[in-house]
Amino acid sequence: MRLDKAAALAGLTRGEARKAIAAGRVWVDGAPARDAAMQVDPAAVTVDGAAVQAPGKLYIMVNKPAGVITATEDRRAGTVLDLLPEPLRRKGLGPVGRLDKDVTGLVLLTTDGQLAHRLISPKWKAEKLYRARCEGALTQADVAAFAEGLALSDFTAKPARLRIIETGEVSLADVVLTEGKFHQVKRMFAAVGHPLISLERLRIGCIELDPALERGAWRMLTQDETAGLKRLCGMEEE
Ligand code: URA
Repeated sequence: MRLDKAAALAGLTRGEARKAIAAGRVWVDGAPARDAAMQVDPAAVTVDGAAVQAPGKLYIMVNKPAGVITATEDRRAGTVLDLLPEPLRRKGLGPVGRLDKDVTGLVLLTTDGQLAHRLISPKWKAEKLYRARCEGALTQADVAAFAEGLALSDFTAKPARLRIIETGEVSLADVVLTEGKFHQVKRMFAAVGHPLISLERLRIGCIELDPALERGAWRMLTQDETAGLKRLCGMEEE
């Protein structure tokens, strides 16, 4: 949006907004801005020190590459936040659950703590779909074992849907879980004798990884996508 239009959100006419810009009263990202035609994010604009727009909640999807940590800070490696442009990194975004460093695919980032909490809580049963490549030939016995609920060393996994796509020396399958304990998918495949070769997350609840999004790329969720997630988690639309 143009700067004069954004400044007018503070309750000024367009003419008053231009005067305020010329007088240095309109700031963008903490510094005075003088070009009324410049394109800005209204969330970054203040007039006389007051934000022109109530800070809305942010919902972003990222296609995580391998080697990136699902955290907001890490001293040694890049994080999913580092995939965003600098101004967005300072908005208080956090990841919804975690993907291991070597796992790729969909990570949601949001400033909406309640939604994030519900999406990872088993209580709300939000599904997570993973595409797994593993060693050895998967069979219907493995499908049945996942469906029954696999006993791991410290807990029994909730029933999970395994759909075999290819089977052979190396197999390919989709698996859907409604929980996400530490290394859970890796541990489930290891428990049936098929160690994982690679793992990619393709869906969280109703949000599918956008196939147009390259590894390392991000985009805001659409309003429909955000509304769908909120419905899933029993949160009324505001
Ligand atoms: N299961 C795993 O083993 N790792 C992940 O990152 C996600 C699910």
